[in-house]
Amino acid sequence: MNEKKHILRPGRRSVANRIDESAVPPVTAVESVSGKAVSDLPKPDELMTCFAAVPRGAEEIAALELEKLGIGDVRPGKGGVAFVAGRAGLYNANLWLRTASRVLVQLAVFPCKGPDELYAGVFAIDWPELITPEMTLAVDSSLRDSALTHSGFVSLKTKDAVVDRIREACGSRPNVDTDSPDVRINVHLHKNICTVSLDSSGDSLDRRGYRIERNEAPLRETLAAAVVALTGWDGSVPLVDPMCGSGTIPAEAALLAARMPPGLQRSFGFQRWLDFDRRLWEDLLREAEAGVRKVPPGLVTGYDLDNRALLLAGRNIAKAGLEGQVHFFHAALQEFQPQGDRGVIIINPPYGMRMGADDDLRELYCQIGDIMKKRCRGWTGFVLTGNLELAKYIGLKASRRYVLFNGPIECRLLKYELY
Ligand SMILES: C[S@@+](CC[C@H](N)C(=O)[O-])C[C@H]1O[C@@H](n2cnc3c(N)ncnc32)[C@H](O)[C@@H]1O
Repeated sequence: MNEKKHILRPGRRSVANRIDESAVPPVTAVESVSGKAVSDLPKPDELMTCFAAVPRGAEEIAALELEKLGIGDVRPGKGGVAFVAGRAGLYNANLWLRTASRVLVQLAVFPCKGPDELYAGVFAIDWPELITPEMTLAVDSSLRDSALTHSGFVSLKTKDAVVDRIREACGSRPNVDTDSPDVRINVHLHKNICTVSLDSSGDSLDRRGYRIERNEAPLRETLAAAVVALTGWDGSVPLVDPMCGSGTIPAEAALLAARMPPGLQRSFGFQRWLDFDRRLWEDLLREAEAGVRKVPPGLVTGYDLDNRALLLAGRNIAKAGLEGQVHFFHAALQEFQPQGDRGVIIINPPYGMRMGADDDLRELYCQIGDIMKKRCRGWTGFVLTGNLELAKYIGLKASRRYVLFNGPIECRLLKYELY
């Protein structure tokens, strides 16, 4: 087996290669340190090739977020953004990215048309440098347009190669723990090119840690953050969500206004890695916490008809550390009247596929249009819906349309200038 072709490690790499979902260039860097004793000290910081997975439609927003973090070589693609970062950049990406669902660190890229190539390519990675026999691991696989078509098989074969390599070097092997592994390995096969990465996030990043219970149709936190970003809201005018449900949009808006990182309440996969730099992480956390400010009263408000959803919304805000800084009111859309003469309204009405029936919803969409037109002059309205037929009942001309995916559902965020 020719190890030299395929190996890259987080924290020990050159900047030569890039991740691109559709075309993965060859990998050039090399290292092999089998059986090397693991030190408690952080390893030297070198650049890593990373990939932030984001909801489709939010790639440009995520790229901007990364650039604001001072991260270089940012390349938005389909379903994610590739970038290059050192350890501080990687930690900050996990802590601060509002639209990304996970951040992967690339280890190896190799051609793979069958099980033997997969095993050899994975075995060639310097796993003993990353995982000890005492640690646990899990493998997630996603496959597209490739000869191997069974993701369960790919995960199993990958796991075999990893544990065999570690057993060969250390004499014993790590166990698998699919619930809470120390190291989560991600395998992506696209057009017979296999990319093996470490998942630095652990739990998906939309699990901010503030959502206690789920209501019927909550928006994913990452998608809500993307919606807020696409509206261009910067905290200088009020933001109102008249159908807020469990308050995901107000919560994400408030986190933004508070300059609070969305990941402040949770832990991340990289904290269990051998090269975890605790001091660096604590410095980054301290710096982030020092920048947090209070959300001004009346800046972010939510309304809904459903008392239970409102209860969850209030609890979520408190859990996010923003108790009393966002206000929720029990009110029907039909009574909605925004306070003040300008601001941003974001409405995520039911759209039939998950809640309610289309017949009942036509009237609601007509009312949304009427209320925005008659009572919201001077404001900018946004409606996020997965049902374009229903959207026509709003009856106003949208000045912009953004395509976003809520999981598999293709949605539109429609913008209305209300004057
Ligand atoms: C798609 S859900 C919103 C989900 C929300 N974005 C979240 O993350 O939880 C639509 C919400 O509209 C509310 N709703 C339905 N009809 C309403 C009406 N006439 N007035 C106010 N709220 C209404 C429902 O109670 C539901 O919470």
